[in-house]
Amino acid sequence: MEKKNIDWANLGFGYIHTDYRFVSNYKNGAWDEGVLTEDASVVINECAGVLQYAQTIFEGMKAYTTSDGRIVTFRPDLNGERMEQSAQRLEMPVFPKDKFVEAVLKTVKANEAYVPPYGSGATLYVRPYMFGSSSVIGVKPAEEYQFRVFTTPVGPYFKGGIKPLTIRVSDFDRAAPNGTGHIKAGLNYAMSLHAIVDAHNQGFDENMYLDAATRTKVEETGGANFLFVTRDGKVVTPKSSSILPSITRRSLMQVAREYLGLETQERDVYLEELDSFAECGLCGTAAVISPVGRVVDHGREICFDSGMTEMGPVTKKLYETLTGIQMGTIKAPDGWVVEV
Ligand code: PLP
Ligand code: COI
Repeated sequence: MEKKNIDWANLGFGYIHTDYRFVSNYKNGAWDEGVLTEDASVVINECAGVLQYAQTIFEGMKAYTTSDGRIVTFRPDLNGERMEQSAQRLEMPVFPKDKFVEAVLKTVKANEAYVPPYGSGATLYVRPYMFGSSSVIGVKPAEEYQFRVFTTPVGPYFKGGIKPLTIRVSDFDRAAPNGTGHIKAGLNYAMSLHAIVDAHNQGFDENMYLDAATRTKVEETGGANFLFVTRDGKVVTPKSSSILPSITRRSLMQVAREYLGLETQERDVYLEELDSFAECGLCGTAAVISPVGRVVDHGREICFDSGMTEMGPVTKKLYETLTGIQMGTIKAPDGWVVEV
């Protein structure tokens, strides 16, 4: 398989058209078999559910080239499960998780020429998504849906690679206590756009969102969960029913315990206690684990011990172990790595 002529090492996190995408339609109460197509355009009615009432959900995952040249994905069953949960919350038909995994593997395989080589620093980002495609004008779910999977080669999510980030405590909320923060709905991202543009305009890399009810507890950022490391080496992550259950975070917590022998805690994390942590990182498929050096809370600066020049030592070990598992240089727990 000849790879495309792409400058892998200098890719940012953007969209590049690749050759094939998977499409399946839901009509009269059933999903069709689905096909791979070269047509990247979506044609839907002007009154489609997705256009009028934002009835759309998505997933994000990656395909990797391992050190011995295989192409693999990371825990795709968990993305399939999360998409089932997202669909249920937005009254959309479930695209079954085994069919989801099959569609992802097929789409990656068809775009093999775009999977960045081992060691290039890039990966193939995979974006499964689903939307209401038939017309609705009264507020109700659509009757027809489309599920699609496309791929795009990507580099680091944050410009500057692994340079520690500066984030601010946001005055905007991301998710209501009994809202949709725990699912991957497009609407959660639409409402974060003003906050991220404003954060960038003020010189910050991301927003730290607090719990909307009390504004005292740390939730997550617009596109990643938090991990903190205490001064005595415990790995801590916020527990909340309104954050997205990150697959990367769940994996890193297990890596911390089982590979690094560290104690882990999933608990309330208060804004007031941030200066007791030695390290902070943002974790997600796109972010992998990106170090945070500083949090700014309306003029109060919280600087983590790890500083502004490099990743802290525990974050680095977590990063190296996770990416080693994904690239095949470290043995993975059973079922984590699925070959294409
Ligand atoms: N939190 C939000 C809001 C996200 O958009 C993402 C990205 O998918 C994550 C967390 C990380 O989740 P995962 O590790 O499953 O990619
Ligand atoms: C991901 O990490 O896959 C995400 O979806 C985060 C962001 C690009 C929305």
